[in-house]
Amino acid sequence: MVAVILSGGAGTRLWPVSREQYPKPFMKLPDGQSLLQKAFLRAARVGAQRVLTVTGLEYYYSTASEYEALGMPEVQTSFVVEPLRRNTAPAIAMAALWVAEHNPDEVMLVLSADHLILREEAFAQAVTQAQAIAQEGYLVTFGIQPTYPATNFGYIEQGLPLQDGAYRVARFVEKPDQQTAEAYLQTGRFFWNAGIFCFKATTYLQALEHLQPDMYKAALDCWQGSEKGEVTYLDANLFKQVPSESVDYAVMEKAAQVAVVPADLGWSDLGSWDAAALMVPPDAAGNRVFGEAVLLETTNTFVQTEDRVVAVIGASDLVIVDTRDALLVARRDKVQDVKKVVEQLTHSK
Ligand code: GDD
Ligand code: MG
Repeated sequence: MVAVILSGGAGTRLWPVSREQYPKPFMKLPDGQSLLQKAFLRAARVGAQRVLTVTGLEYYYSTASEYEALGMPEVQTSFVVEPLRRNTAPAIAMAALWVAEHNPDEVMLVLSADHLILREEAFAQAVTQAQAIAQEGYLVTFGIQPTYPATNFGYIEQGLPLQDGAYRVARFVEKPDQQTAEAYLQTGRFFWNAGIFCFKATTYLQALEHLQPDMYKAALDCWQGSEKGEVTYLDANLFKQVPSESVDYAVMEKAAQVAVVPADLGWSDLGSWDAAALMVPPDAAGNRVFGEAVLLETTNTFVQTEDRVVAVIGASDLVIVDTRDALLVARRDKVQDVKKVVEQLTHSK
């Protein structure tokens, strides 16, 4: 099995730590490992002999050195380097073309560089099952039990049972609106899409050829016209021709042979500071502190700081993230709006 790690760049909701120059996959967690390193270790742990990372030119060197720092020469590492972003459907297509050239029937496990999985054993089990189903020609997704009507995830409706603990997918709906998400939750038949996929390289390429013939053709042209090796640099002019779309809209919503393996993974996509805060255990007052801070008469507050000591007095339900050159102070129920700050900053540049 080849693990494909997609590493696309900045997660704007984690500003000021996640930036264009220092995006979310490079963020270090309290245990000292970056999300990217965790993804690599996860891939190795579930038995991938090779890790193929698809990432941008600007992140290639730092990604390679994150991996090297882990000191795991037994895992082969290869890269597909994108000169520009075309979203996940083309990124996975290039990975699938890489894998298919070596062995068309090889199973790929597509992972995100910026997810967190706390229950690695449950994940390994789910991957073993997904691998078997992928061998039969399915596009396999991983289903997370939803806890609230999120609008930033894909939703998977479970269909007929396929085998013990796995189902056909009746419907895949990417990022539904709030009302639809609420209705889905009420049926009890929907999972969140974890954004992790498992399929044979040929299964994906055939689905793409069938569902998105233009994308398939442009991706194939780009593959054939690129300089290949352990590090494959995609040709910029050819990659530019590939339509930009996510795998969820381009393939998963439309494909026929989709399966879901529901799993309790302790999964988080660390989509916002609220989710990231959960990484740090709370004290008796519900405060979570990463870095050096003094909190007096303060409750339910998250503080992350790099270089400076942060002091908080008489506050509750705040998120405070301090970095060398930017400080975020937000009410906990407003942390999703951090992305608006980034938009404003980008506009005013
Ligand atoms: N190499 C590369 N190139 N990677 C990319 C690109 C790209 O152009 N665009 C995105 N990625 C990477 C991101 O870095 C991330 O690791 C992963 O692909 C998913 O992309 P996101 O942009 O974060 O997707 P999303 O969060 O909106 O939605 C996806 O993930 C959700 C779970 O976190 C979907 O699959 C949803 O259905 C799913 O619920
Ligand atoms: Mg995401």
